Amino acid sequence: MTDRVPPTTEAGAPDLPDTHGTPAAPPGQGHATGADSTAAETDRGGALIELTDLRKIYQMGDQQVHALAGVNLELGRGEFWAIMGASGSGKSTMLNVLGCLDRPTSGRYRLEGQDVAELDDDALSEFRLRHLGFIFQSFNLIPQLTVRENIELPLFYLGWEADRSAAHAAKIAERVGLGDRIEHRPNELSGGQQQRVAVARSLANDPPVLLADEPTGNLDTATSGQIMALLKELNQQGKTIIMVTHERDIAAHAQHHMHMRDGIVDRIVRDA
Ligand SMILES: Nc1ncnc2c1ncn2[C@@H]1O[C@H](COP(=O)(O)OP(=O)(O)OP(=O)(O)O)[C@@H](O)[C@H]1O
Ligand SMILES: [Mg+2]
Repeated sequence: MTDRVPPTTEAGAPDLPDTHGTPAAPPGQGHATGADSTAAETDRGGALIELTDLRKIYQMGDQQVHALAGVNLELGRGEFWAIMGASGSGKSTMLNVLGCLDRPTSGRYRLEGQDVAELDDDALSEFRLRHLGFIFQSFNLIPQLTVRENIELPLFYLGWEADRSAAHAAKIAERVGLGDRIEHRPNELSGGQQQRVAVARSLANDPPVLLADEPTGNLDTATSGQIMALLKELNQQGKTIIMVTHERDIAAHAQHHMHMRDGIVDRIVRDA
């Protein structure tokens, strides 16, 4: 399966620079929503992510594909997971459901105490924007936008005021080692640098969870190592990371491994 483009980029390239209008969230209160406070109240002591008999069935003509065939799982805050398994075993489907890019056919998915099935499409987009960051194999940057503008995308959708957003993006670019590339466009960057932009974009709104589908799949070994070191550092700083990978040496950077087979989680190895 190909990567799914996150909704933040589906709308194409918005006019980022001129967003001095009324921001959706006043500065300093970007995280305050009803959904968040509800989640915080119901989440105390619980797992960050709870999956209960989660299923995703695709209808292909008169055939049904059970891409997720009943997954039960609890993932804790601050953990770093690698999802492994053969091609077609359901890894990307799992990540897309975890990322609220796709709704499960049945079963329950709770993230930070919020049952995502209870959210309508608008609320789900908002929830995704605040809780989840995405990193894809093919980077999924918008070519017409600069590094800074790509990083600003989630903030744009959250209605951040332009100057604050630009300053914040510059700070995050520094953090991923791209401080001197901020006004470049993606095609002026190496693959590793482009993936750093994608990591920076995933961090823009400081979501607790980062989801990565084969984040080093298009990178050479040395560059892959640098991206993994960056993800590891982010994990040590508190981010929960869930990463799909085919490669054992890439999975070795994660704390826990989950092996999938035919849409189920076949085996879990904690502290791998
Ligand atoms: N949109 C879709 N429509 C129909 N079937 C799908 C769809 N997406 C995935 N599938 C099927 O669901 C199963 C799981 O696919 P998925 O993409 O999750 O596998 P994967 O483990 O990520 O594989 P790969 O390692 O090749 O990326 C496969 O049989 C696939 O053909
Ligand atoms: Mg896949």
